[in-house]
Amino acid sequence: DYIKVIKGISDLEAEVQKILGISQVLIVPGAYNPEYNKTELGRFAAGELKKILANRKDELTILAVTGGTTMAEVANTMTWDGENRQIIVIPGRGGLGEDVEIQANTIAATIAKKLGGTYRMLHVPDNLQETTLNSLCQEPQIKEVLDLLARANILVHGVGTAEEMAKRRGLSLSEINYLKEVGAVGEAFGFYFSEDGKIVYTTTSVGLKLDDLKRDDLLVIAIAEGEEKARAILSVVSPEYHDILITDEKTAREMLEIF
Ligand code: BG6
Repeated sequence: DYIKVIKGISDLEAEVQKILGISQVLIVPGAYNPEYNKTELGRFAAGELKKILANRKDELTILAVTGGTTMAEVANTMTWDGENRQIIVIPGRGGLGEDVEIQANTIAATIAKKLGGTYRMLHVPDNLQETTLNSLCQEPQIKEVLDLLARANILVHGVGTAEEMAKRRGLSLSEINYLKEVGAVGEAFGFYFSEDGKIVYTTTSVGLKLDDLKRDDLLVIAIAEGEEKARAILSVVSPEYHDILITDEKTAREMLEIF
């Protein structure tokens, strides 16, 4: 039976990989088990991340992360294995209006400690004017993180539905209406995507831009689960930006269903 389950999962991984066109899809089994929750996905992803880092032992790794409840599970379930690593963990973008527990800064610090590495924070308040942001970017402390981001080796980020993320970040009613109008379905670190994968709205902030994700030497990993997120994942994840998607069985089946 176990073999059957594993075989089923690897077939599913191959199918999802085909529709997305990315290099790898990893699916955590057990989503139909009543005891399954997001923590399982977090633990699985934390393990996969460690495997990737094991192959980079002799070089410095700059790891960028985003916020969100899924990434918080990755951070919280990751175990400290007593190993010190040459790794700097940094937030992918600054100030996106999340609660402190699920902010990228907090997650970066937790992951750095568990990996035996160091971290830097991006102290950028939310909702700043573009001109203020531009001058902030010249501040040495912020500039240092932005320079690190430009050289990041790995980015791990969550994916949200446009609707939920707009609400969670306290976007105004007119912004929410605009998102509906332009058909935003998915979101990742402040970028909102339409069904056909176009960026239809961007939250003003500093840090990674989508074009940065196209860099060949940046490994981009998206982590997301939930049937309600299937459409969002399809809109956000593309071979243009992504290398790996980590999700669960239920979400994967729903993605195939609606594709
Ligand atoms: C945000 C990230 O913090 O969390 C986004 O910047 C992501 O990339 C979102 O879409 C997802 O949140 P959650 O709580 O559904 O994991």
